[in-house]
Amino acid sequence: FLSFLSITVEFLFYINHCDIFVLTEMLESNNLVTFEGLSNSSSYHTFLMDEEKGRLVVGAKDHVFSFSLVNISHDFTQIPWPASPSRRDECKWAGKDLSRECSNFIKVLQPFNQTHLYVCGTGAFHPVCSYLEVGKKPEDNVFRLEPHVENGRGKSPYDPRLLTASMLIDGELYAGTSADFMGRDFAIFRTLGKHHPIRTEQHDSRWLNDPRFLGVHLIPESDNPEDDKIYLFFRESAMDGEHVGKATHARIGQLCKNDLGGHRSLVNKWTTFLKARLICSVPGSNGIDTHFDELQDVFLMSTKDPKSPIVYAVFTTSSNIFKGSAVCMYSMTDVRRVFLGPYAHRDGPNYQWVPFQGRVPYPRPGTCPSKTFGGFDTTKDLPDEVVTFARSHPAMFNPVYPINNRPIIVKTDKDYQFTQIVVDKVEAEDGQYDVMFIGTDIGTILKVVSVPRGSWHDLEEVLLEEMTVFREPTAITAMELSTKQQQLYLGSNIGVSQMPLHRCEVYGKACAECCLARDPYCAWDGAECSRYFPMAKRRTRRQDIRNGDPLTQCSDLQHQDELSGQATLQDKTLYGVENSSTFLECSPKSQRAVTYWQFQRSADDHKQEVGFVFLKHTLNQITTQGLLIRTLAKKDSGVYLCQAVEHGFMQTVLKVTLEVIDTERLDDLLHRDNEAAAAANVQEFSSPRESPNQRLWYRDFLSLVNHPTLNSVDEFCEQIWKREPKWKHLQERQKGRNRRTHELERAPRSV
Ligand SMILES: *[C@@H]1O[C@H](CO)[C@@H](O)[C@H](O)[C@H]1NC(C)=O
Ligand SMILES: *[C@@H]1O[C@H](CO)[C@@H](O)[C@H](O)[C@H]1NC(C)=O
Ligand SMILES: *[C@@H]1O[C@H](CO)[C@@H](O)[C@H](O)[C@H]1NC(C)=O
Ligand SMILES: *[C@@H]1O[C@H](CO)[C@@H](O)[C@H](O)[C@H]1NC(C)=O
Repeated sequence: FLSFLSITVEFLFYINHCDIFVLTEMLESNNLVTFEGLSNSSSYHTFLMDEEKGRLVVGAKDHVFSFSLVNISHDFTQIPWPASPSRRDECKWAGKDLSRECSNFIKVLQPFNQTHLYVCGTGAFHPVCSYLEVGKKPEDNVFRLEPHVENGRGKSPYDPRLLTASMLIDGELYAGTSADFMGRDFAIFRTLGKHHPIRTEQHDSRWLNDPRFLGVHLIPESDNPEDDKIYLFFRESAMDGEHVGKATHARIGQLCKNDLGGHRSLVNKWTTFLKARLICSVPGSNGIDTHFDELQDVFLMSTKDPKSPIVYAVFTTSSNIFKGSAVCMYSMTDVRRVFLGPYAHRDGPNYQWVPFQGRVPYPRPGTCPSKTFGGFDTTKDLPDEVVTFARSHPAMFNPVYPINNRPIIVKTDKDYQFTQIVVDKVEAEDGQYDVMFIGTDIGTILKVVSVPRGSWHDLEEVLLEEMTVFREPTAITAMELSTKQQQLYLGSNIGVSQMPLHRCEVYGKACAECCLARDPYCAWDGAECSRYFPMAKRRTRRQDIRNGDPLTQCSDLQHQDELSGQATLQDKTLYGVENSSTFLECSPKSQRAVTYWQFQRSADDHKQEVGFVFLKHTLNQITTQGLLIRTLAKKDSGVYLCQAVEHGFMQTVLKVTLEVIDTERLDDLLHRDNEAAAAANVQEFSSPRESPNQRLWYRDFLSLVNHPTLNSVDEFCEQIWKREPKWKHLQERQKGRNRRTHELERAPRSV
């Protein structure tokens, strides 16, 4: 329990860095389009995006839908595909729930050829597949299910609660699924096509141990197609002896696309299957890492090199004690390095897993057969010792660690968990950014951008928007993004929603607000915050994702009055008298900004938040206009920073150096009747940044209010003011206010 405590403390650090509060109730806006679902359907979980035809095909309970990508609620068609009454009866007799389980839940939707999709469903615990005609071109306007039905075993699960991760390439369907009524025989299958079906070794928990498949991807290994590999992402129970007690591990598995199985052993079984653990963890101060092991979803972000996409993965914790979610990023170089590293090995059931130290047979298990290299045309020609070794060593010893060795996002104190992720690459003025859209189990979407703080190794996450996309809390179970439409599509148990990738108008009309939002999709175009296009002329667009600094972007647009040439922070110096009160005026322009005061006693002191840590002895009041300090004490002298917090970012609007003068010293001052003597004291009082002849301190005596000897102050000041016209003083004050500075900081949680 103690170690758990220290872990939570560690998390606080992360939370501070990740959380920004911009909650937009998307439902109330007119940007969201929702298909509320049919009364006789549900489970809108299987998506297939066809950008060319402008359609989103969705598999659900007893139906397949085709939605227009432009407006899903305006233009859609549906095909009912229920299980037959006799299948439903059989399902019921087998003890299953008629309404919840004995329907045809669509689990596989894959492009088959130019005109047809391949579609499979649970068929009331009797998986079935068929072909769906969609036409060649958008204008064909075809959406028709072929009456011919095939056996769906090894393609769709029997149980609607289980998933299939599938991919159809070159007429062959790769599917990670369960292949029996009981939901115990999990395997990775290749079916359809001209080859004999092939699968993973059965009843061997070293290969697969109660897995849940989440994604399948083809990633080329080299320019030679013989090296093409299929990667599977899944979570499963840790192998026996791999972990004390019950645990879940996240995995990446690999297969060669040209694997045909073994000749004498592993006949019609994969001979190139290998798996490795994916680590996503946060180091604890006590040396114990907190692991996010429940892999939920994976998104591959393509790069210039098709061999090296970036793997984005969403995880949750297995712990019952606390809920947590994380996003980790992996590089394919790291994945390949692990598959080329030591195999996990143990000598018997009571031994530990160790790295295999012996001689690895040739060709190295996991290598794809190639005519070009090694002289093995097919896996059927592999030497027996290779196949034997592959059979008993499916796991790698080393895990794959995330890029930078830590998650890019961690959330732990939330009443929700992450479920889905898609990532969009966005071209901005100062570079390319990956914008993540993360779905949660309560029907919300987080839009997050990763911004390098100093280098690419130090990323900071900026939460751009948090949106509710379903009328009731329901898990987001499917997500697809259309770059062409600039829209995001979301599936859940209750319906399908569509939302734009950007809503620049919500960031307001001002240049600074638009800039502060740091949304790479948006820029200030001279009139408002709107979609940024990289091709547009440079000078007309204002955007700064990396720093979100409105000063460099927008300062030339400020009112002439406030534009005094230099963009440095102006020191405003105020004097106050002990036991009197003072008011530090600070009212940011924006209505949405919340003010927040910080105090720093001396240059090497920490900044403290006014109102909490500091000045407990007095009743300070923070109003929308400024900070009122009722009874000044000598120790209140120092620097006051007025911060305006907007869009989760804090900027220093005003910096006031307050000097509290003790009464004795004031009296001293006031009782000098000759000007020369007063002028001598000026040197002492003036701020070091100002030249002595400015005599700034005169006007600052205005702030000496409620002083017991106020009358004499008034008199004193009058003398002075005769020399220095009042208007000038007012002008100076105006300059000090509203000045936005370079000092931008992340808002603390308490704001
Ligand atoms: C579900 O209801 C729709 C009409 O709302 C109907 O067209 C469809 O055939 C029904 N589906 C099934 C499987 O009965
Ligand atoms: C989408 O279509 C629906 C139904 O026709 C309509 O009410 C809605 O305004 C449309 N939304 C958009 C954003 O076009
Ligand atoms: C696609 O496959 C379907 C189902 O096998 C077949 O009927 C159709 O003719 C094929 N279309 C093309 C263009 O090959
Ligand atoms: C200021 O107030 C405190 C407490 O009320 C009192 O002890 C102190 O003498 C006062 N100082 C002056 C200079 O009036």
